[in-house]
Amino acid sequence: MSFLYTDVCTSLGIKYPIFQGGMGPYKTEDLAIAVSNAGALGVISSIGMAATLLPEAAPVDAKRMFGEDPPKELLRKSIERVAEETKASEGIFGVNVPVASEFILASKMFVEQVIESRENDSEIEKRLRVLVTSAGNPTPWAEVKKHGLTWVHVVPSVYHAKKAEKAGADIIVASGHEGGAHVSWDPVHSMVLVPAVVRSVDVPVVAAGGFCDGASLAAAICLGADGIQMGTRFIATKESDFEDLWKKAIIDREERQTLTGRGLFGPMRFLRNKRAERIVERTLKDVPSFYLGEPVQSNEEILELERSGFDELLNGNESEALMFGGECSGRVDDLPSVEELITRIMNESRSAFNRICDSLE
Ligand SMILES: Cc1cc2nc3c(=O)[nH]c(=O)nc-3n(C[C@H](O)[C@H](O)[C@H](O)COP(=O)(O)O)c2cc1C
Repeated sequence: MSFLYTDVCTSLGIKYPIFQGGMGPYKTEDLAIAVSNAGALGVISSIGMAATLLPEAAPVDAKRMFGEDPPKELLRKSIERVAEETKASEGIFGVNVPVASEFILASKMFVEQVIESRENDSEIEKRLRVLVTSAGNPTPWAEVKKHGLTWVHVVPSVYHAKKAEKAGADIIVASGHEGGAHVSWDPVHSMVLVPAVVRSVDVPVVAAGGFCDGASLAAAICLGADGIQMGTRFIATKESDFEDLWKKAIIDREERQTLTGRGLFGPMRFLRNKRAERIVERTLKDVPSFYLGEPVQSNEEILELERSGFDELLNGNESEALMFGGECSGRVDDLPSVEELITRIMNESRSAFNRICDSLE
């Protein structure tokens, strides 16, 4: 057992209080395997797999990324592969399903697949413990608990945290504005959000947005959280499924080199390059109108900006590639294996707690 064994470790059976964030459009299969084998919570990301359902409306070319399988089949195979490759370590893992209204049909399909996979295989049932919903209304999803899953929901505010708790979420991930990819328009960062959410709900809270090392894990615990969820930091690991270009871009960026603009499904934080600058220029011309929910640009233009950005990513064009990432990319400067990273984070956080203890009278 680790020196830092919080309620989320007990309830999920993980060794370390660290979640890997879901990160579409990749399946994050390799990353989930590595994280789960290292004793933290690995998470398969489903949303990219939905792209084959409506190719003309999707920002990524799902066939180019994942081949011909339909989405539910893709997820079934992912679950089976992750279960198989984490069997020896008895690793625990989960599936992330974004539940925004735009892709609710796909969300239902993915949740059904998670339930089916568990019902059909006792090994999967034992170790696929978690469903992480995000980016939408939590209320319809509580019934997954009846199927034995621990239900985690991601929120950007106290209001949404209370709603998730009322709906029955077992664990809440409070995700601050510094995080990569989808963020809220309201720039409430983790330092304010996490303790505010902790104070307003009774269920365990996991802190996301800006967490990348032992100091920030220790800080999250001091803020009242039971653990951290990391996205950006996990991208820059040897095993992660992301393009090398993306990993290098995170390592190269300083903390000021991210931008938020409007993505297809709401505000997003991008790694700064020409593509991100153009997205911000095209979508943030008239900021107040966003707060009223009126996009300045049409969805068609945003779709084109994202789609061509993903093509340029796959073509290896760094300045025109679409890449999401959080502010903590400014604090990421190497490419460790997942196991090295988790060991380092735990050692660093122990040192941080020792320093706190040493400074007590
Ligand atoms: C490239 C990328 C893609 C992401 N995609 C998803 C996703 O599909 N579903 C989701 O719930 N969160 C998604 N996130 C958010 C992460 O799960 C995580 O909460 C966030 O990255 C935490 O902030 P950090 O980047 O500062 O670590 C994504 C983040 C990144 C960087």
